[in-house]
Amino acid sequence: MSKSVVLIAEELSPATVDALGPDFEIRHCNGADRTELLTAIADVDAILIRSATKVDAEALAAAKKLKVVARAGVGLDNVDVAASTKAGVMVVNAPTSNIVTAAELACGLLIASARNIAPASTALKAGEWKRNKYTGVELSEKTLGVVGLGRIGVLVAQRMSAFGMKIVAYDPYIQAARAAQMGVKLLSLEELLEVSDFITVHLPKTPETIGLIGDEALHKVKPTVRIVNAARGGIVDEAALASALRDGRVAGAGLDVYAKEPCTDSPLFAFDNVVATPHLGASTDEAQEKAGIAVAKSVRLALAGELVPDA
Ligand code: NAD
Ligand code: MLT
Repeated sequence: MSKSVVLIAEELSPATVDALGPDFEIRHCNGADRTELLTAIADVDAILIRSATKVDAEALAAAKKLKVVARAGVGLDNVDVAASTKAGVMVVNAPTSNIVTAAELACGLLIASARNIAPASTALKAGEWKRNKYTGVELSEKTLGVVGLGRIGVLVAQRMSAFGMKIVAYDPYIQAARAAQMGVKLLSLEELLEVSDFITVHLPKTPETIGLIGDEALHKVKPTVRIVNAARGGIVDEAALASALRDGRVAGAGLDVYAKEPCTDSPLFAFDNVVATPHLGASTDEAQEKAGIAVAKSVRLALAGELVPDA
């Protein structure tokens, strides 16, 4: 009997292939290259992806034998889950694999933004010793507004509490009592925007959340606010953020994600007070290994016709 075919469409940890074991034919493609993806997906049983591969209705239509889409990470916004279900294709992800790693990056962006670490480093390496120019602000006693108090939002809240920050959050799907147990005060979005010295976004990208932090929201914030988006590009509207930075209505930003990726050219990159990373939220050895192993296990179970437990 021929082996089931597993297509790895993005660079994943080598632990992924080890965890799949010898029972599958493993193929590779560049899932970000649409033509390559549509050809490669045609006769495979499972596809393993990160965030750069779009498994939409067109890709599903091209996939004649596909049984499983495995997302080695959290966000499922690059997978048409409804169309997959309709086509009888199971979608699995690794919802806890990279949450610590993503939270740590968000905290890093908050700290980097507060203390101008990136521009000060760039300037020093260019021979400029400018201590006054890069004077920052303390985190201690400041209010951090967490937008989306889910797995990553909670981890960020816990970590930033240790810096002496007061934590408030906006998340209509969380009980106030549960938030209070964590020492977090739940507010409306409007209240959060008004009181926060720092804002960090940890929402999934959905029709409701796209542009949630847009022009209207950015007219309600303190001019000293620093905003971090390590969730998904477009939740913080890029044009509105650029305009708020230009007008001095926002003091700084830390960005890991962009409305269109890869993003190598953005008006936001011209601001000294924007620290930007190329979607590195999940990029640690540990998180990639966990994500790869988790989805490999799910693919094994799914292709064996066994129940895939919730992670
Ligand atoms: P989660 O599902 O645990 O938490 C999301 C939270 O958002 C939930 O508590 C939910 O109630 C809340 N929420 C949903 N819709 C909302 C809305 N309209 N308004 C307010 N709150 C809303 O997810 P998570 O593990 O914390 O991850 C959050 C997102 O971070 C993921 O969806 C993913 O897109 C992104 N992420 C990015 C990276 C990266 O590499 N930068 C890594 C991991 C995850
Ligand atoms: C995620 O949602 O898990 C992140 O975007 C990381 C990734 O690219 O896999």
